[in-house]
Amino acid sequence: MTLLDVRTVRKTYPGAVALGGVDFAVEPGEVHALLGENGAGKSTLMKVIAGSVTPDAGQIDVDGRRLPLGSPQVAREHGVAIVYQELSLVPSLSVGENVLLGRWPLTRTRTVGWDRLHEEAAQHLARVGLDVRTRTSVRTLRIADRQLVEIAKALCDHVRLLMLDEPTSALSEREAERLFGIIHELRAEGVGVVYVSHMLAEVLRVADRITVLRDGRTVDTVRAGDVLEADLAQMMVGRRISAQPDQRVAAADGDLALRTRGLACRPRLQPVDLELRKGEVVGVFGFVGAGRTRLARTLFGLEPDAAGTVEVSGKRVRITSPADAVAAGLGYLGDDRALGIVPAMSVAENITLASMGRLSRGPVLDVRKQRELASRYIDELAIRASSPDQPAGTLSGGNQQKVVLARWLCSGVRVLVLDDPMRGIDVGAKEEIMRLVRQLAADGIAILYLTSELKEAKALAHRVLVMAGGRIVRAATADASDDQIMAAAGGVHG
Ligand SMILES: Nc1ncnc2c1ncn2[C@@H]1O[C@H](COP(=O)(O)OP(=O)(O)OP(=O)(O)O)[C@@H](O)[C@H]1O
Ligand SMILES: [Mg+2]
Repeated sequence: MTLLDVRTVRKTYPGAVALGGVDFAVEPGEVHALLGENGAGKSTLMKVIAGSVTPDAGQIDVDGRRLPLGSPQVAREHGVAIVYQELSLVPSLSVGENVLLGRWPLTRTRTVGWDRLHEEAAQHLARVGLDVRTRTSVRTLRIADRQLVEIAKALCDHVRLLMLDEPTSALSEREAERLFGIIHELRAEGVGVVYVSHMLAEVLRVADRITVLRDGRTVDTVRAGDVLEADLAQMMVGRRISAQPDQRVAAADGDLALRTRGLACRPRLQPVDLELRKGEVVGVFGFVGAGRTRLARTLFGLEPDAAGTVEVSGKRVRITSPADAVAAGLGYLGDDRALGIVPAMSVAENITLASMGRLSRGPVLDVRKQRELASRYIDELAIRASSPDQPAGTLSGGNQQKVVLARWLCSGVRVLVLDDPMRGIDVGAKEEIMRLVRQLAADGIAILYLTSELKEAKALAHRVLVMAGGRIVRAATADASDDQIMAAAGGVHG
């Protein structure tokens, strides 16, 4: 019997048809990937199945039983588990408390059974192969580990269907492998897995079948063995995407845009000396945990214990806060997109947040100019919003990412620090962002491009620095082989 049977589900938001009558089915023991551009409706469909979004119409059967719509509790009782795209843990609580959130075991005297709680939580963590103490506060965990805690939390129930919304976007390759291992075990137990990812190669490996959504409608459902990456990209976007990155920008020989001396945040970031020229794209490649993000955050004034000196365009600047960094001409796109977006503010306000000076005369904001500027970037980055006034928090995840990028693009930055900017971005938009990064460099902006994807770094950067263990371990020219770079990133010095 079909495990999950979704029929003609509709969901309309003011100005957006998120789902326009979608059919979707998952068999027991099947891994079913859901693909689509940013804003195609993937997250909405999963939320409808999980009961956290009530559809306007449609019906859902789980194991042949009709599921009352719009109730997360009832969905859970039917064995439906979900890991949301936006992490949902409570940072101030411990790992164990989070894993069993809402289901803390009680003792006979009706107080919380702490020992039992931590014992049970530890078992769930073991299931996802996460080795942290359950009494640790979630606040102290890296994003990758938080993601695994989320999965452990979802797995708690008697699971029939597990839905994962971009679970690997913050994971290293090894951590992702562990997740695939868990998925395979669940599949062998007859659990159905719904899987959203923008990494097509990964999808082809993990999924049995693939359903592609476009503009809230099903394009097709195919067997993974019957298609190639390029086919999927075409189905998603509706046109052919070139796999070949276009020509890189010409060699940068402009003036020095950024220079750091002994930039450090011990013990996680050892002293770094960087030099970026105007128009230069410098890639920083390293695996998760190599210190890339620490470097970006330190440069942007987000780490209180920073040491070292920074010069922008030859002038010494003191950066002890993000405000200092912005004033000095720096822009930053972090690996935690929740940090960047102000959910309650409109898309236009979010885009122009760092450009207010330019848009105001004295204390008066020129709203018309603000909208014009925002609209330009909404078009250029193909941000899918019903209007510039839509609250940014209601955009799809990938589109939120684009909004933060747009903010820095229009603020007139001199140095742009991009930490994994392609995370959660669909193939069409990736092409778009690559083009934009090249364009920005051609316009004279210096770009520090931090990534865990070597392909990306090589396609975009003039030179690639390799990070491992909190330090720059190698400077690679464009012709260094992938093996050499990988070896350096893995800590093999050669
Ligand atoms: N609460 C909301 N209010 C208004 N519009 C919404 C809301 N939630 C989603 N939408 C809109 O519905 C559409 C589908 O969004 P959804 O989050 O399902 O996309 P997605 O396929 O998950 O994209 P991504 O790959 O970027 O995560 C988008 O146009 C989005 O702006
Ligand atoms: Mg989504």
